[in-house]
Amino acid sequence: MSGIHIRHARVLTMLAPGEYTSPAGGRRGRELGTLGVISQGDVLIEGDRITSVSPSGAAVAATQEIDAAGRVLMPGFVDCHTHACWTGNRIDEWEKKLAGATYLDILNAGGGIMSTVRAVRNATQAELAAELRVRLDRMLRLGSTTIEVKSGYGLTAKYELRMLQAIRAAGSGFEGTVIRTALLGHAIDPDAASAEEFFKVLMEEIWLGLSTDHRGVAIDAFCEKGALSVEQCSKLFGGLVRSNHDIRVHADQFTSMGMISAAVGMGARSVDHLEATVPEDLARLAASDTFGVMLPVCGFHLDGRYANGRGFLDAGGKLAVATNFNPGSAPSPSMPFAIALAVRHLRLTPAEAIGAATVNPAVLLNLSDRGYIAPGARADLLLLRHTDERALAYEVGDNPVDKVIAGGEIVV
Ligand code: NIG
Repeated sequence: MSGIHIRHARVLTMLAPGEYTSPAGGRRGRELGTLGVISQGDVLIEGDRITSVSPSGAAVAATQEIDAAGRVLMPGFVDCHTHACWTGNRIDEWEKKLAGATYLDILNAGGGIMSTVRAVRNATQAELAAELRVRLDRMLRLGSTTIEVKSGYGLTAKYELRMLQAIRAAGSGFEGTVIRTALLGHAIDPDAASAEEFFKVLMEEIWLGLSTDHRGVAIDAFCEKGALSVEQCSKLFGGLVRSNHDIRVHADQFTSMGMISAAVGMGARSVDHLEATVPEDLARLAASDTFGVMLPVCGFHLDGRYANGRGFLDAGGKLAVATNFNPGSAPSPSMPFAIALAVRHLRLTPAEAIGAATVNPAVLLNLSDRGYIAPGARADLLLLRHTDERALAYEVGDNPVDKVIAGGEIVV
């Protein structure tokens, strides 16, 4: 027998007694804080799977042994919302923001997302893939073993499909897993004759590419003043989503637009951001099967506004937390940093923040084999430097991850 045997670890299985896989539909409310701790445990990995999880016992012959010496062993982070495929930079715009301009001022003046759109359109697919791969490697070192990456800086079918191909190319050969999302409604192309024309042409031209090369990817949009209205988002989703594409939507980042009711009504997989969500809408979302995804790096980087994570969990919502890694609103690849902010500003407990970074985002992305530690699960694991998992949220600005195992291989 050969494999990796991690011994004497504080194992966070993320499972409640009697659970052997992730909870169907994801964890709701305060149950998100379920850590399923084995305080002295051993985990055996063979191939790309976990094959045994038990209280510490005897050594196993012919395996590579890692003595965790009481440190935390937990599932790899699942970063379920990023815009990590981009080129160019927006540091000049950030200086304008420091001098008082807002994110929406910059967007409405033709900068922001549009400045990254211009840079991305001028780059080749190979250049986009190479830049993304560098970022994926950085995220992996910080513990993200599964990373969702959105398109959205192309806007037209030609450039959106090129981004999706670049994301796919960057993901092949990457030790972790990359999940593509087609962010087709990030903004309306200013070169289009009208918004109606933009959607008509986009939907006509993208359909074939999506259904051949990107089957089943989720479709996303940005519902906001200066981006898409609720009606435009609904039209886009209604036109493109035929049962095999999940709907995700950026909503209430700056303005409460009324998108939550529409998204819940359409059975959206997630509504992401929620900084400006009014209490009735937060309650509506919490009572639904749609995940809320909160992105606290935006509040840190842009304007100090954060979503009401505590209220959402107390109302029984299904919550995930992600980096939102992008050049405009969240220039951080770090899930540990997102967790540290989630505890301070979304008012999650450290245990809830860990659940929001592992078990729930895996379910959100329809990945039933990860986000928890049990026999049969994919061996995506983190060995922390710490013996207390709360240090993940307590420590700021360092990397708490000592070793990363992805698909059964020690990659960091
Ligand atoms: O989720 N708000 C829309 N999209 C991203 C920002 C993208 C950008 O500014 O380039 C977000 O924050």
